[in-house]
Amino acid sequence: MFTKEELMEIVAKRVENCTACPLYLTRTNVVVGEGNLDTRIVFVGEGPGEEEDKTGRPFVGRAGMLLTELLQETGFRREDVYICNVVKCRPPNNRTPTSEERLACKHFLLAQLEIINPDVIVALGATALSFFIEGKNVSITKVRGTPIDWLGGIKVVPTFHPSYLLRNRSKELRKTVLEDFKKAKSFIKEV
Ligand code: URA
Ligand code: SF4
Repeated sequence: MFTKEELMEIVAKRVENCTACPLYLTRTNVVVGEGNLDTRIVFVGEGPGEEEDKTGRPFVGRAGMLLTELLQETGFRREDVYICNVVKCRPPNNRTPTSEERLACKHFLLAQLEIINPDVIVALGATALSFFIEGKNVSITKVRGTPIDWLGGIKVVPTFHPSYLLRNRSKELRKTVLEDFKKAKSFIKEV
């Protein structure tokens, strides 16, 4: 038997050696993800930005600071949850990862979610949402806050990406995301 830590280490090694899509050419560091593998809730973003590419850690730039703040206001400590992204290498100029890149990287996030097996996943933004509702073209504005049943048993709660909040600077939007985080928290099963 492998522990969760050992399994995640195996995934991390594979990510580090991955050349399956062109994003490997321009990355400084891969960003696998970080947090508590026993968490019941996982937060999934789009892909590493500049700070993340430099440090190899997810959500450590401006959007990351906002995410950390929102987590605290929801009653989580950042180190108690798990945070990762749809793609593990930074898309140049922070462009949206292409469908080819997402497809090439997909098995890594699936493996991570299988290891952690959370009750709830918060999909941060449209790219993360599209991972869980393959093929369907839905607007994040319409579906945010509405939980989706994924793989029979895991709730996926879509909400806006923190970068979107940074661009809009609206108190209302921030409150909405906080409410979505709280709703996601309510889906954690008590044991
Ligand atoms: N934006 C993301 O989607 N992910 C990060 O890790 C940082 C910023
Ligand atoms: Fe591999 Fe994913 Fe990085 Fe592409 S983004 S090189 S698939 S780890």
